[in-house]
Amino acid sequence: MAKNTLSITDNRTGKQYEIPIELGTINAMDLRQIRTDAEDFGLMTYDPAFTNTASCKSRITYIDGDKGILRYRGYPIEELAEKSNYLETAYLIVKGELPNRQHFETWEHNITVHTMVHENIKKFMEGFRYDAHPMGMLVGTIGAMSTFYPEAKNIFDLDSRRLQTRRLIGKVPTVAAYAYRHSRGLPYVIPDNELSYTGNFLSMLFKMAELQYKPNPVLERALDVLFILHADHEQNCSTSAVRAVGSSQVDPYSAVAAAAAALYGPLHGGANEAVIRMLVEIGDVKNVPEAIKKFKAGEGRLMGFGHRVYKNYDPRAKIIKQVADQVFEVTGKNPLIDIAVELERIALEDEYFVKRKLYPNVDFYSGIIYQAMGFPMEMFPVLFAIPRMAGWVAQWAEMVRDGEQKIARPRQIYIGEDTRRWIPMADRPEPLQREESVSHQI
Ligand code: CMC
Repeated sequence: MAKNTLSITDNRTGKQYEIPIELGTINAMDLRQIRTDAEDFGLMTYDPAFTNTASCKSRITYIDGDKGILRYRGYPIEELAEKSNYLETAYLIVKGELPNRQHFETWEHNITVHTMVHENIKKFMEGFRYDAHPMGMLVGTIGAMSTFYPEAKNIFDLDSRRLQTRRLIGKVPTVAAYAYRHSRGLPYVIPDNELSYTGNFLSMLFKMAELQYKPNPVLERALDVLFILHADHEQNCSTSAVRAVGSSQVDPYSAVAAAAAALYGPLHGGANEAVIRMLVEIGDVKNVPEAIKKFKAGEGRLMGFGHRVYKNYDPRAKIIKQVADQVFEVTGKNPLIDIAVELERIALEDEYFVKRKLYPNVDFYSGIIYQAMGFPMEMFPVLFAIPRMAGWVAQWAEMVRDGEQKIARPRQIYIGEDTRRWIPMADRPEPLQREESVSHQI
């Protein structure tokens, strides 16, 4: 019978090693024994951006990027998007099972009682500049929340973890809505716990003088589906951030603030904003072929296309495209959709994109829907962060409970200078000469 091991011959020494293969991986530490002599540190792997390194074992989300499959706790994303709601999906992600009616009602209650934020959080947010980016406000405020709940540092206490989980999922829409109202110069709207999770969020965003805000049910459901699609995505940049920062045993608010900061970037949660800017710049369907030519020549990227893991159509993008049609029936068509559809049509037939397996990702159509619903572009990454909170806290808690995890601490390959003699300032070379030295380039 074939053995589940890897045989390695070190051609430097002629020595042979046999390394176990478990779950399709070898343990990187097993390579350390491969040394040229007793002084040698041992073999390491080099994997910038972790393109082929598993950093954890997880039971939460499964992706098959080649087949375009996404499942939360074993349930296909298509089924959840059709039949579930966001809070139920959040329960599934955090707790591992779909709730029965009683558990769901308790969960909904437990989240809803935490939608209010401390008055000082409101005051804290008032301190941001009138034109502060809502995502910057969200990152800062989530981090500041750790000062309001100092007991959250008891990360090995199950009850504390549960409480912080409910608080984070309950409060993130409130903080997000306050960030939006602040940037519009509008008064804050307190949560309405009679409404659904997304209905209340829409109320906190858009309520004006009416006694009770009544969300449009089609838009409320569309947002709920978008929230389901964004709830988790295994070890992406922001989730890796929450795990890495959380591995220092800091409180979850600080760890999740780091994740939100990672999500802010244009290659991650900021991509949907970048897609709209790109579509506006292209301006018309007739300009699409020219734009594609530029992307192929390396002048910018076709934003909303390509993915580190999906080498097939992102299953979330397929669902979002259907949601777009439902939303447009209420809001009227966003004219940018025609440019997006034409970009997709041409790109999917073009050899450059086909060869590199570049398909639309989750961000390609989501921004167009958000825009049609009346959200300003700056809110797009915030709309990504709200539902991703369920994934972040679930992944954080899984990491805390995982006995194989330690503080995240990658290795490096040092390629800098060898030991140098310190020179007094007066004797150091002129700046012109120093510019030639690579070690001074930032
Ligand atoms: N447009 C044009 N070319 C692209 C694109 C694109 N959107 N994406 C990748 N490529 C090319 C890239 O130039 C490279 O070509 P070559 O082999 O000739 O150098 C090849 O495809 C592989 O790209 P890569 O940068 O090595 O791939 P990656 O896995 O490091 O990057 C990505 C993944 C998502 C950062 C990238 O595809 C990208 O920048 N896409 C646009 C931004 C975007 O839509 N981001 C949202 C990601 S999904 C939601 C989320 O995670 O937040």
